[in-house]
Amino acid sequence: MKGNFTFYNPTKIYFGLNSVGNLKYELDNYGPNILLAYGGGSIKKNGIYDKVMEILESKEKKVFEFKDIMPNPTLAKLLEGRSLCLENNIDLILAVGGGSVIDCAKGVSASVFVDDPWEEFWLLNKPATKAIPVGAILTMVGTGSEMNGGSVITNEEEKKKKGHVFGPNVFPRFSILDPTYTYTVSKYQMCSGIFDIFSHLMEQYFSGDDDNVSDYLIEGLMKSLINSTKLALKNPKDYEARSNIMWISTLALNTLVGLGKDQDWEVHSIEHQISAYTNCSHGMGLSVISPAYYRHIYKYGLGKFYRFAVNVFEVNPLGKSVDDVAKEGLNCLTEFIKDSDMVTNLKELGCTKDMLIKIAVSSDIEQTSYKVMTADEIYEILLESFEG
Ligand code: NZQ
Ligand code: ZN
Repeated sequence: MKGNFTFYNPTKIYFGLNSVGNLKYELDNYGPNILLAYGGGSIKKNGIYDKVMEILESKEKKVFEFKDIMPNPTLAKLLEGRSLCLENNIDLILAVGGGSVIDCAKGVSASVFVDDPWEEFWLLNKPATKAIPVGAILTMVGTGSEMNGGSVITNEEEKKKKGHVFGPNVFPRFSILDPTYTYTVSKYQMCSGIFDIFSHLMEQYFSGDDDNVSDYLIEGLMKSLINSTKLALKNPKDYEARSNIMWISTLALNTLVGLGKDQDWEVHSIEHQISAYTNCSHGMGLSVISPAYYRHIYKYGLGKFYRFAVNVFEVNPLGKSVDDVAKEGLNCLTEFIKDSDMVTNLKELGCTKDMLIKIAVSSDIEQTSYKVMTADEIYEILLESFEG
């Protein structure tokens, strides 16, 4: 571990079957006014809304609804939530949903205290000095938003989707993770979330080359994810598999496994712009461009790609060159994507050829990648990913 770090994660996790029962105890810590943030209605169909409302009512809370938070939440939606908080003296924002709902709730919680949240946080990257407490009930797995300070917001006017990482005062105070709450997620969204997790692990793994314990943790999480994915695809109600995936997802982006590492995040930067243009599902955007991106950069981190092949995908290195083993590992990644029915080309996400250059020039360039990209290189990667 060459890098210094401070590790502080204040989110309390309630994990497991019926863990929603803990909500009633948590509610004692907050005043009467609750902003209930949720998405387009899945929680009404699967009964989670009724369950949560029953608990809120038993605690005599006054509920203000902040609904229809869309996948890839927009700045306009965030400002709507901000107004609701300002008008109603909100004591707790309770986010019930996936990454989009939780991200939006966290963004709102800090935006209440500033005049121009987009500029303050997403453009100028300033810390939030104050925030309304947020609690989360997770219904879709993938982003890790339930235990981190991330909030990814799309500014539709500027065609820019951007993440901001808030400090511990914006992390959810508590998050409730019941794996059975994810059973009603469609196969498409389940696979999208799984690739999002895999990508978070790769973004942190493919960076720096010291003997870092974080890399060993990541390899273990990747192997467990590959194993559990196979089982969940066979039987989406395999509790052990779905619970493993849920916890791997949280561990993959609660800041633990990135400690002491540079980290990359270029795949995410490119995907965010694909999403800004197509409104695609985040994980599927990542699954489309990852193979081309890693083929493009593997030579700059050859030793690590060799290690990935051998330790994660169990490629037998005997009698093969380092380069061949590294490439075989990347082929295994592509196979994993195909076998898991993830999307493999940009066309399928609604991307048109004339969008590619716009996506390339508007993608943020990360400075800690094995190979720092140019807009031309991003364009090449997009072209390669266009037809798959
Ligand atoms: O809106 P509803 O009706 O609830 O439907 C949602 C949505 O359509 C549905 N869904 C969620 N739980 C369900 C369910 N359907 C049936 N049963 C359930 N139990 O799933 C759809 C997708 O939900 P969404 O929240 O958009 O997915 P996800 O969790 O993948 O979140 C994606 C957002 O998170 C951002 C992404 O960029 C994207 O905006 N990210 C946030 C990060 C963070 N905070 O650290 C990091 C990630 O890299 C990512 O960028
Ligand atoms: Zn992600």
